[in-house]
Amino acid sequence: MIRRGFSPTQLAARAAYLLKGNDLGAMTTAAPKLYPHMWSWDAAIVAAGLASLSVERAVRELDTLLSAQWSTGMIPHIVFAPAATGYFPGPERWETARLAASAPKKPETSGITQPPVHVIAVQRILDHSRRRGKTVRGVAEEFLNRRWPDLMRWHRWLATARDQGQHGLITLYHGWESGMDNSPRWDAAYENVVPGRMPGYVREDISVVGDPGQRPTNAEYDRYLWLVEQMKSVGYDDEKLPAVMGFQVQDVFFSAIFAMACEMLAYIGEDHAKPHADVRELRAWAELFRSGVASTAHHRSGAASDFDLIAGQRIPTDTLAMFAPLICGGLDRPREMALARLFEGSRWCGHPDLLYALPPSTSPVSKQYRPKEYWRGPVWPVITWIFSFAFARRGWPERAAQLKDEALRLVADGKFAEYYEPHTGEALGSMQQSWTAAAVLDWLG
Ligand code: GLC
Repeated sequence: MIRRGFSPTQLAARAAYLLKGNDLGAMTTAAPKLYPHMWSWDAAIVAAGLASLSVERAVRELDTLLSAQWSTGMIPHIVFAPAATGYFPGPERWETARLAASAPKKPETSGITQPPVHVIAVQRILDHSRRRGKTVRGVAEEFLNRRWPDLMRWHRWLATARDQGQHGLITLYHGWESGMDNSPRWDAAYENVVPGRMPGYVREDISVVGDPGQRPTNAEYDRYLWLVEQMKSVGYDDEKLPAVMGFQVQDVFFSAIFAMACEMLAYIGEDHAKPHADVRELRAWAELFRSGVASTAHHRSGAASDFDLIAGQRIPTDTLAMFAPLICGGLDRPREMALARLFEGSRWCGHPDLLYALPPSTSPVSKQYRPKEYWRGPVWPVITWIFSFAFARRGWPERAAQLKDEALRLVADGKFAEYYEPHTGEALGSMQQSWTAAAVLDWLG
């Protein structure tokens, strides 16, 4: 089946127009209705996309995000837009400014984090500035010099507060921290979260996404909010969280992104004469987390898995988590080849019923596969973009290009949806999603 759509030039123009429409001045909302604030990993992808249009505007996006960094080094998963309404849980539920000693008073933020893709944006800012004149290059370099200590603090916080046992694996206290909120990866761990008494609430997401079948259930939502109450009970204190949290998992996908980001930042640091000690530390983290991810891999297939620290159990799932080692490396060659074949083969991207050869969020042959449900089956263009970026870095340009070409076909409808049904290409979730547009711009820019 051939789907007609916008030409690459038209698509890039529409993507740029969309980002302008979602721009509040110094921050781009993740999406106009469903997500009217700034999300951490969305903002990084948005900045990477904006860099092809304006290095200055991309820098401003990251500056806004980093202005919300906690004194511990954590970059919070949401920075709330001052006047926006219509999102729950908002700042009055998180109460970080009042309860967390390390949270900023302004801007208001959530109290959890998200995957560290920010160095990709820094890299794109530097890449694009190199093609411009001295003035723009100056903007990018001034930004890097000014924010280098903050980027180091962010990475150091992840490597220490979120890997207290030095396993080379990042611990999450909430499924939302993975960015793959409702993935089957977290089902078993959530079952052990038993909500107690807490203030009532009204969900906003189901009034925006018309079909509740695509969204988490109310029982799931109770658990999400109970975890927030547990964090609040210890003032979001990193030292105290391990003793109170009902959800504690080591996330391989997050850890793989972290390993890649540390390596990238080390190269950037070296190129820009940053302190040797910082570069050494980044290289050591990259190595530790690469080995941490590889240590979870299956002895034959190379597929990685998360680990539930509370149940003391590995969480093998047929989800994107399996492919974490392809992002950061660390496997021996036979297993790496086996894993790449699995990714491209008929259980994943090469499944005969898929409209495009793109990775769905769960394998189409898995019992847990739901092609329209949030993080349980649909294709996220931005995740494809992350794989494509990582594959190009790993020295696999053909694989990177194929993902890009297939994804550009999928999004040629010009809707820039949050996610897509893998068999029909139906646009789902929120429309005009900023990071979908930004990924497309980066590909076409
Ligand atoms: C959803 C996604 C998360 C994303 C956010 C904003 O919560 O699961 O990854 O950051 O939407 O787009």
